[in-house]
Amino acid sequence: MAPEAEAESPVVIHAWSAPRSLSTSLMYSFAQRDDMEVLDEPLYANFLRATGVDRPYRQELLSKMDPDGNQVVKEVIFGPGDKKYRYCKHISKQHLPNLSSDLMKKGKHFILIRNPLNILPSFDKVVPPSFMELGIGELVSIYSELCGLGSPPPVIDADDLQQDPEAVLSGLCEDLSIPFQSQMLNWNCFLFLDGKLAPRNLMVYGPPWWYGSVHKSSGFSKPCQYPLTFPFAFYDLLEQCLPFYNMLKRQIRKTRGPQQPPLPDPPLPVPANKNILVWVGDELLPRDSAKISVFDSVVQGGDAVWEGLRIYDGKVFKLDEHLDRLFDSAKAMAFRNVPTRDWIKDAIFKTLIANGMFDNAHIRLSLTRGKKVTSGMSPGFNLYGCALIVLAEWKPPVYDNSHGIKLVTATTRRNSPNSIDSKIHHNNLINNILAKIEGNLAQAEDAIMLDKDGFVSETNATNIFMVKRGIVLTPHADYCLPGITRATVMDLVVKENFVLHERRISLSEFHAADEVWTTGTMGEITPVVMIDGREIGDGEIGPVTRQIQNAYKVLTAGLGVPIPRIAEV
Ligand SMILES: Cc1ncc(COP(=O)(O)O)c(C=O)c1O
Repeated sequence: MAPEAEAESPVVIHAWSAPRSLSTSLMYSFAQRDDMEVLDEPLYANFLRATGVDRPYRQELLSKMDPDGNQVVKEVIFGPGDKKYRYCKHISKQHLPNLSSDLMKKGKHFILIRNPLNILPSFDKVVPPSFMELGIGELVSIYSELCGLGSPPPVIDADDLQQDPEAVLSGLCEDLSIPFQSQMLNWNCFLFLDGKLAPRNLMVYGPPWWYGSVHKSSGFSKPCQYPLTFPFAFYDLLEQCLPFYNMLKRQIRKTRGPQQPPLPDPPLPVPANKNILVWVGDELLPRDSAKISVFDSVVQGGDAVWEGLRIYDGKVFKLDEHLDRLFDSAKAMAFRNVPTRDWIKDAIFKTLIANGMFDNAHIRLSLTRGKKVTSGMSPGFNLYGCALIVLAEWKPPVYDNSHGIKLVTATTRRNSPNSIDSKIHHNNLINNILAKIEGNLAQAEDAIMLDKDGFVSETNATNIFMVKRGIVLTPHADYCLPGITRATVMDLVVKENFVLHERRISLSEFHAADEVWTTGTMGEITPVVMIDGREIGDGEIGPVTRQIQNAYKVLTAGLGVPIPRIAEV
């Protein structure tokens, strides 16, 4: 007689989720497949035994299910079976340290998440919610453990599943390398028997109040248009859980299901800036978590002051000059509870050191009036003190300084001291942004802005210089920002033995100039080869521009406040 063939073990698909996350519906969905058997929370009794937690059905459950978790892992989860696949619905808190490492090493895993904002309103119907009961922290541990094993699991969101079951399920099947079957979209004949699904006419296993509505369902229910009113007793718990949920949410494949954003993720000008640390308030945060309150003055009214600084060869160029201007702007705007110069310097250094940025980097330093106690315009609502943002990025000079740029003149006028004094370096940049839009529409790199009388003030982002018959000219700083690069370049012009005139300059003088350049920390010294369709000089970079560019390079290589190195920190 031929020996009996040994039963093959199915490929196990582990589904990890928090409670109230459509995990039972999803199990029903997988149970419809012709190649799948399913297990409902096979590690539940182990969890009850190991943790000792109380449940109304504790005794009944322990008497029906094997409470020895490792026995269950070996014989039930990975035991022999008739089908090609075995789906295991796991609740994350049942992932306990006493379990064999096989549980995570073997089979295919995926994670089902749901916004705690949608879990918590219905949670208290069974067990009062807590961080442990929700198990969202444990879901992150599971994700991290699987990444450590070299297999980051697919993540799906219950709210997406409700929105578009077919897109999410077919995407999930693809990620699990199993063919999608359309019968997963509907069900009508399964209930539980000893942890396994069975036809409806057999005995029901498990606490029925959990599954009542799912048993009656025949597919994923459509999401409600409006959320339930949130149970505010769980507000703190929501705050504890959300960072974990959001971390997992970021792992959802963007190309899948209704989560697909209207636009794909844009490429970053410098891809290395994807993973940077940003100083917000009094801490360093990863790029995606670096956020400011909706109550902050900068959100409410552009009520903040800022500086752009550049890092050259381990040094911050003109650090004290930038901080002087920042404090002057804050003083003019009557900010209160402004941090000290040393505190801001420390935040700058910590940010640069943490990011390993010692060269070729730029800092956007913003100081907001801070959070308000309620929305509104009055600085009287600002009772929390100022908020500092140190956004350091890898950033080579932003213009083509070797070939030059084109400018056009904007119709938008630069603010005069009659309206907003341009000597305040504030974040209310709409004036400049409107001019920049004009520049973009004309396919120019930037736009020249005129003052209220029609004289040139600066560009939307830089100060401006011209050369005529060997004399260097730049507008008075009455209608433009008194730029730090402008001041540096004015000194250099004199040091390089050119004559410098600071006066009102009309647009036609710029059109007819021999050379023009712009200045700014971000872009340094940028030759201008065309203004409003007029070629400047012969359309090439002129000799004075080159001389000043070279002199500026020497200065930036040598000057600056050193960033403390690890040994000194
Ligand atoms: C409108 C405007 N002009 C000029 C500049 C250049 O100033 P700085 O040389 O201090 O970087 C800036 C930079 O912040 C600016 O926003």
